[in-house]
This record gives sequence, C-alpha cells and structure tokens, in this order.
Amino acid sequence: MSKLLVKGRQKLGGEVSVQGAKNSALPILAATVLAKGENVIFNCPCLSDVDASCGILRYLGCRVRREGGALLIDSAGVDRSDIPDSLMRKTRSSIVFLGAVLARTGRARLCFPGGCEIGPRPIDLHLKALRQLGAEIREEHGCLDCRAPYGLKGGRVALSFPSVGATEDIMIAAATASGTTTVTNAAREPEIADLADYLNRCGAHIYGAGEGVLVIDGVPSLHGALHTIIPDRIVAATLLSCAAVTGSELVLKGAVTSHLGAVLPVFEEGGCSLQSRDGDLKITAPHRLRSMRVVRTMPYPGFPTDAQAPLLAAACTALGTTVFVENIFENRYRHTGELIRMGASVKTEGKVAVIEGVPRLYGASVEATDLRGAAALVIAALAAEGKSTVSGVKYLERGYENLETVLSDLGAEIKKI
Ligand code: EPZ
Repeated sequence: MSKLLVKGRQKLGGEVSVQGAKNSALPILAATVLAKGENVIFNCPCLSDVDASCGILRYLGCRVRREGGALLIDSAGVDRSDIPDSLMRKTRSSIVFLGAVLARTGRARLCFPGGCEIGPRPIDLHLKALRQLGAEIREEHGCLDCRAPYGLKGGRVALSFPSVGATEDIMIAAATASGTTTVTNAAREPEIADLADYLNRCGAHIYGAGEGVLVIDGVPSLHGALHTIIPDRIVAATLLSCAAVTGSELVLKGAVTSHLGAVLPVFEEGGCSLQSRDGDLKITAPHRLRSMRVVRTMPYPGFPTDAQAPLLAAACTALGTTVFVENIFENRYRHTGELIRMGASVKTEGKVAVIEGVPRLYGASVEATDLRGAAALVIAALAAEGKSTVSGVKYLERGYENLETVLSDLGAEIKKI
C-alpha cells in the first residue's frame, strides 16, 4: 500500500488549476445511463471513485473511454438492470445509479452496503422518494429489488433532510417519469445545479436547481450531450488550507468563489487575505493563522462538511482556539486521533471538536481512514517540523487527482513511496 513522505515547513508558491468536481462527476456519470447515445463529459477528474462508476457503466452495457480530461460514454447499449455487490462496494455514492437504472430499464437490483468510514449511510430518503414516484421496492438483507414495470410517475416529494444523494436520485428518476415532480427541501449544492444543467442538455425539463424547490417536467426520453464538470470546491478548500497552514501565497485557477461562500470568510477570520479576479482566487496567508472561532457544518450554502477535516488540520497551529461543530455526519472526526500524534491539541465530544492551537506540530507516521481525513493529515504534515509518513493514500486517490504532484509542483517536499 503506497504512502506519502512529507517534509514539513516548506513554503508553497505559484498557481494551481482546480480539478473537476468529484461530487458532480459521479451523479452525472450515473445519469448517462438514461441519456441514450454519445455523451462527452469534459473536465472529468481521474479518481478511483470515477473509475468505480465507469466499471458500473461498462457492466450495464455502456461503452466508456477516456480521452485526456474527457470521458466518452455511449449508453445506447444498456442491457442490464442489476449491479453486482463487488462493484457497488467500491464507492458509497453508487446508490445514485438506482434512479438511473430504474428509469432506463424499469428494474434495478443492487445490494447496498451499510455504513462507511464517516458513519452509517442510510438510504431511507432515496427509497421513500422513489416509492412516491411509483417504484415498487423490496428490501432484503441490504439488497434492493426495484421495479417500475409501467414506468415512473411524477409526484410530490418532501425531503425531511436536504440529502444531496436523494435529491440527485429523484432528479434523475423523475426526468423521464410521466408528469411533473416537485421536490421540496431539495439539496442546493452546486453539484445539484451541475447535474440539472447536464440533464437539461440531454433534453430534460428541470427547474429550480440550487434553490429549495425543484420542479421536473418528465419527458419521454433523453439523448446524449456534451457537458463540462464544474471545478471541485472541496479540492479548492483543501488547497486553501495547504496555503493557510504554511503561511503561503497561492493562486487557484478556475475556483468558483460563489461556491465557497461559507468557506472564504473562515479563512479571512483566520487572518488570510483573499482576492478573486477573472476566475482566479488568490490567497495570502499570515505567517501564523489566527483562531477561526466557530465553524459549523451545514447543508449548502452553509459550511460544507467535506471541508471540515482540511480546515480542522489548518486550525491545529493557529493562534488561539477554534471550535468545530459537525452537524452532517456522525463519525467525521476520525482524523483527530492522528493529528494528536503530531502534537495537536484536540478534544472531541460528539459533534464538537475543540482545537487549541499549538505553536508547532511534529512529523509522525500517521494513518488515514477516510478521504477528507487523509487530506487533513497531509495538510498537518505540510505544517509539521520534520518528516511525516501518511498511509492510506488509497483514500486520498478517491477524491484528489495526483495531490502529491500538485503540492510538489507548488514547492512542497512530498513524494509517494
Ligand atoms: C454527498 O454524500 C457527498 N458525496 C458527500 O461527500 C458529502 O459529504 C455529502 O453529500 C453532504 O454534502 C457525493 O456527492 C458523492 P447526504 P451523500 O445524502 O449524498 C443522511 C466526500 O467526501 N441521510 O446529503 O451521501 C446521511 O446519513 C463525500 O466527497 C439519511 O439519513 O450525503 C447524512 O447524515 C463524503 N438518509 C446526511 O443525510 C438518506 O436516505 C447527509 O447525507 C440519505 C442521507
């Protein structure tokens, strides 16, 4: 299993292009099952989660090939409606194939593994909503057998929580349902709007994406389309954390500042100055961060839960105490134990983590156990005195395209061993 070797306390500098958004690419790849014909998805990041989705697409009968930064998917030949467990288990987000396969074939059979590293990942909201669109769903020991022999019908769905995945599943399933579907309390993340944008290019009629109420007028069928994935706002937040924790100045090319509305003020609270000019975002960090006071994760447009771990790592050497409140997932502080091994002063109690900034972290051998926790350990290693070894790189590769190369190009002493 590969590891990253990092020698800390190197200043970073220069500019870096932000990769395409993982959490936009994954639902859009699932939606290509419904868009019969040639799809070209530009700016699609090279990630293991994307590879896992491509494996599912090929199994279902799609032709998939990569040409540089673009994925070409022809879904005309979809001839299966089951997804084997071995493919489902590779990534948590494969549940979003449920709505697409069901809408395309009238049936969907898949086993849905239970929790993952960051907590139980229930799918009750997905199933309740699909049933409201007319799906007959049988659940046995985590395996689902879904049928919609007469197609799906538009309906009114009220989500009890603005679940990103459930909103995506419904949007895809409702796109070719007969009649109109309205979704209240829908998730408002930029990735939802990107999925709606792609589906509308395929001929769907989806309105209100990014607001709280979604309206989807079903159409008979969808055709293929060209689409460019939006930049990854969580990767942007991660790179900003790398700059913040090393007292560096970086220019992020392609970062969408409007997607970082709740994130940028936290860096400014910590003493960073941020300037955005024609698609570039420049961060200038102080020699030492100040406390970022209180950071609460919330559904978009609130502070994103995926940026909690990277920012928490940056807070470890800030001047003063920073409090994090993780409101979205049950078990998303697993990286803090490893940060303590590097000399951080962290106390967690349920949803709350209290970070007392220390003057220095020290290099250590640390182990990542989830995607964003892995990023947090790399960020801490960049700040630490001496050498660190970060294992669990496979978690990093789920969501970050060549992070070690990106960081070494910016001046970090980091390499994969
Ligand atoms: C998406 O996961 C993202 N993944 C996650 O990013 C992100 O953290 C999350 O949204 C929140 O923003 C992808 O887009 C592929 P949810 P998802 O459904 O769709 C509960 C990363 O690091 N819930 O909004 O699974 C659930 O338990 C990943 O890139 C139900 O109770 O998130 C959680 O507590 C991690 N029942 C909360 O809602 C359901 O049916 C948020 O889940 C569905 C969800």
